Amino acid sequence: MKRILVTGSNGQLGKCLQKIAGNYNSLDFKFLDSKGLDITNVKSVNSAFKSGNYDYCINCAAYTNVEQAEKTPERAFAVNADGVNNIATACKNNNVVLIHISTDYVFDGKKEGAYYVDDIPNPINEYGRSKLAGENYIQKILDKYYIIRTSWLYSEYGNNFYKTIINKAHTERVLYITDEQTGCPTNANNLAKYILNLITSQNTKYGLYHFTDGKAMTWYDFAKKILIEGNLDKKVRVEKAKNYRTFAARPANSVLSA
Ligand SMILES: NC(=O)c1ccc[n+]([C@@H]2O[C@H](COP(=O)([O-])OP(=O)(O)OC[C@H]3O[C@@H](n4cnc5c(N)ncnc54)[C@H](OP(=O)(O)O)[C@@H]3O)[C@@H](O)[C@H]2O)c1
Repeated sequence: MKRILVTGSNGQLGKCLQKIAGNYNSLDFKFLDSKGLDITNVKSVNSAFKSGNYDYCINCAAYTNVEQAEKTPERAFAVNADGVNNIATACKNNNVVLIHISTDYVFDGKKEGAYYVDDIPNPINEYGRSKLAGENYIQKILDKYYIIRTSWLYSEYGNNFYKTIINKAHTERVLYITDEQTGCPTNANNLAKYILNLITSQNTKYGLYHFTDGKAMTWYDFAKKILIEGNLDKKVRVEKAKNYRTFAARPANSVLSA
């Protein structure tokens, strides 16, 4: 039986992991949300690891508000960099394998074609910089780690683009969606399965991975796909948004390839 600590368990990915945990008889989970374990609190992190005798930690805890991170970058760095440093150090001291989730936003988006794991990151916003700092801590501290970069997560949980489109489709006739960014939407349920299969397959090829659902598209394409699959495309029209601007700079191309 492998013992697994899941941090940030009340977020989108954490909930997807909780949903399927019961299918894995050989895994024994401890799910801790941000109240149960604040990863920025070194003492709490150390005591959680000491008492748990874990084999793996899946770190789902993150500061994920990309827009807000521009205004208060210190909050993003506290969780995504310093918090990850705490987790990586606790993993090192307790001989725990870390599975950490990172992002397509570590790249600047200027490459033509997909990004591979050996492409050099160059984040263009504070969220991306804070996530890259977290990756760097892990690589410095640990040998036994998986950093899994993913992109454009969606699921039935939390706030995400998929849910926003479905909700808007019930109140609006036309949706204006940008086609200025291309990436790979990824169902967080598929990522959850990938992570648990990584553990059960006893893969020991530690290092950096990219995981997505594999199909590159713009937000505009994705919105159309969501409406078609939800049988809402006759009711709502999607148009390309002109002059779409966000506070945070976003990579124009963040397609990830394994
Ligand atoms: N969502 C995406 O599109 C996307 C894309 C690429 C990569 N990722 C990465 O994928 C991972 C999972 O994302 P997600 O969509 O599941 O994010 P999410 O829904 O925002 O969940 C993050 C969780 O982390 C918790 N958290 C925040 N600060 C914490 C702290 N100091 N200590 C412990 N927990 C804390 C949050 O709890 P509270 O709500 O209580 O603060 C929340 O439950 C993250 O590492 C993210 O960077 C996400």
